[in-house]
Amino acid sequence: MKYEVFATYDQMCRRAANLISAQIILKEDAVVGLATGSTPLGIYNTLADWYAKSDLDFSRVRTVNLDEYCGLPFEDPQSYHYFMQTNLFSKINIKPSNTHLPNGLAPDIREECKRYDALINSLGGIDIQLLGIGHNGHIGFNEPSDTFSKDTTHIRLTEDTIRANSRFFKSPSDVPRSALTMGMRSIMCSRKIILVANGKEKEEIIHQAMEGPITPRLPASILQLHPDTTVLFTIE
Ligand code: PGA
Repeated sequence: MKYEVFATYDQMCRRAANLISAQIILKEDAVVGLATGSTPLGIYNTLADWYAKSDLDFSRVRTVNLDEYCGLPFEDPQSYHYFMQTNLFSKINIKPSNTHLPNGLAPDIREECKRYDALINSLGGIDIQLLGIGHNGHIGFNEPSDTFSKDTTHIRLTEDTIRANSRFFKSPSDVPRSALTMGMRSIMCSRKIILVANGKEKEEIIHQAMEGPITPRLPASILQLHPDTTVLFTIE
């Protein structure tokens, strides 16, 4: 794993945006794996700026997101569909039909998990995957557990994650209790991975993930086995 530390959040976001845009310039129909949460916001703003300056073209780019809550309508401001639309897709020239997220409202959740894995396979896998990391070491919504989940999974959120994400909701009881998340197989088969984190409270978990034992109790630790993962961190 490569590890790069930045003095400011802005510098970290520019570096991540550079790595993503380099991939899109090299392969204009790249499959880009995207993440939600507060950390990627500056990266999406930077990419949107570069698009506005005509430095980047998303017209052939395909995207797959890591996860989505179960039970939130797409137009709910806390849904990840809404997040992606508001923070990135509406600001760039990506074709809506080229953007993909798991559907947390699907009537048959098991079928939806299978559909999402088949979709990622049909796109030829992920060229570059952006990841955040939870305070408990989750990536996507792959929560600490006894085993790594290989495929897209319906997951029960841990109390830790519900607490962390309640800052976006009116109260913790409004946070959905379950979600769909891309599994470790699609993440680990991504040809390149960038994990971004900022803030003192993420420093320890990042070091445990990079240097500690590889264990499903700290899902991000599996990235030690990936041949091309870069961790970008800033204390800011
Ligand atoms: P954050 O979330 O970027 O809002 O800290 C990261 C995560 O939980 O994956």
